[in-house]
Amino acid sequence: MKKFVVEGGNKLEGSLSVKGAKNSTLPIMAASVLCSEDWVELHNIPDISDMHVMAKILKSLGAKVIYNENRLNLKVDALHSCTIADELMREMRSSIFLMGPLLARLGEVKVTYPGGCSIGPRPVDLHLKGLEALGAKVREENGFITASASSLAGAKIHLDYPSVGATENLMMAAALAKGKTVISNAAKEPEIVDLQNFLNAMGANVRGAGTETLRILGVQKLGKCSYRIIPDRIVAGTYLMAAAITGGRLLLKEIIPVHLDAVVAKMKEAGIEIRATEDSLEIIGGKLKAVETLRTLPYPGFPTDLQAPIMALLTVADGHSKIMESIFENRFKHVTELKRLNANISVEGRTAFIKGVKRLSGTEVEATDLRAGAALILAGLAAEGTTVINKINHIDRGYENIEHDLQQLGAKIKRI
Ligand code: EPZ
Repeated sequence: MKKFVVEGGNKLEGSLSVKGAKNSTLPIMAASVLCSEDWVELHNIPDISDMHVMAKILKSLGAKVIYNENRLNLKVDALHSCTIADELMREMRSSIFLMGPLLARLGEVKVTYPGGCSIGPRPVDLHLKGLEALGAKVREENGFITASASSLAGAKIHLDYPSVGATENLMMAAALAKGKTVISNAAKEPEIVDLQNFLNAMGANVRGAGTETLRILGVQKLGKCSYRIIPDRIVAGTYLMAAAITGGRLLLKEIIPVHLDAVVAKMKEAGIEIRATEDSLEIIGGKLKAVETLRTLPYPGFPTDLQAPIMALLTVADGHSKIMESIFENRFKHVTELKRLNANISVEGRTAFIKGVKRLSGTEVEATDLRAGAALILAGLAAEGTTVINKINHIDRGYENIEHDLQQLGAKIKRI
């Protein structure tokens, strides 16, 4: 098993740009299934393992997938299967949003139940209810979910919760359904807007992404397009926090600062000075201080995916901070590992109480999930001595060459 070895104490200095968003790339790769006869070309694709898993899944269904140098070419003219193999579903839960496109293309789809993961159970009830509203017959039995529909018809769907994945699944299914679909209480994340723009680039008729109501007019078929994925706001936020925790400076270029409004506001509250232009954010210093209350929320609130990284930051901020994780049931697995680095954190239910300490001290820890792993890198950068991070395959799921980026900024981190 690969690991990262981090020597703490170096201030990060320099500039970086970030690759395309993982959480746009995955749904947009799934949406390419809706294009039945032409090549789709995607640019700014991150070279991360989740993308390669999605490519493997698409190939297993009969798609042609060519990846090189952050560019993906996909052609899904011949699908020879509507079943996603169990081991592939287990590798990546979010492949559940292939259900919508496969249902729309083939009229049938069979997946295994994605099941829970380290951040909590990952129910898909909202996905399935929405697909049924569009006319699918859904059956869940002995771990399998099968959905079938001779044709999909537009419907009015209200999501009990603004689920990102359910919104994406239903947008994709509705794109080829007959008639009009309205999705209310939809997720508003920037990745939903990216998916809308991609679908429309293929000739779909989707409106309202970024607001809580989506309106989709089904079309007959979708054609080829070339599309550039938006920059990854979570990777951007992670790097900003890496600079902040080391008391360094960082210019992040070619990003979309407005996607990080909630993150920048909280980092300023934590004493960090940040300068923004229309396509960059710059950390220019500041002494870390505690944040009284931070609650994760659906966009445009503070993103749950940066909860672990900002917790790492707050472990060395002066004073008492409180973090409430309102999105996932069990997304504090990183707390135990941070405490091994001498952080002072206690958890009650979905609330973590952090008391800032002078210094963290390096030791051996393990990544329990993607963002927890990122948080441990940040803590290691600030800790006294050496931090060894195990199970870094989790980190490679969502960060392309994170150690190269951080080395470029002066971090002492190596993969062994
Ligand atoms: C997406 O997951 C992201 N993944 C997650 O990023 C992100 O944390 C999450 O959205 C929230 O922003 C991708 O986009 C690939 P949800 P998703 O459906 O779609 C409950 C990362 O680190 N829910 O918005 O699974 C669910 O249990 C990953 O990059 C239902 O109850 O998120 C959770 O508590 C982690 N029923 C809440 O909604 C459903 O049918 C949010 O889930 C679906 C979801």
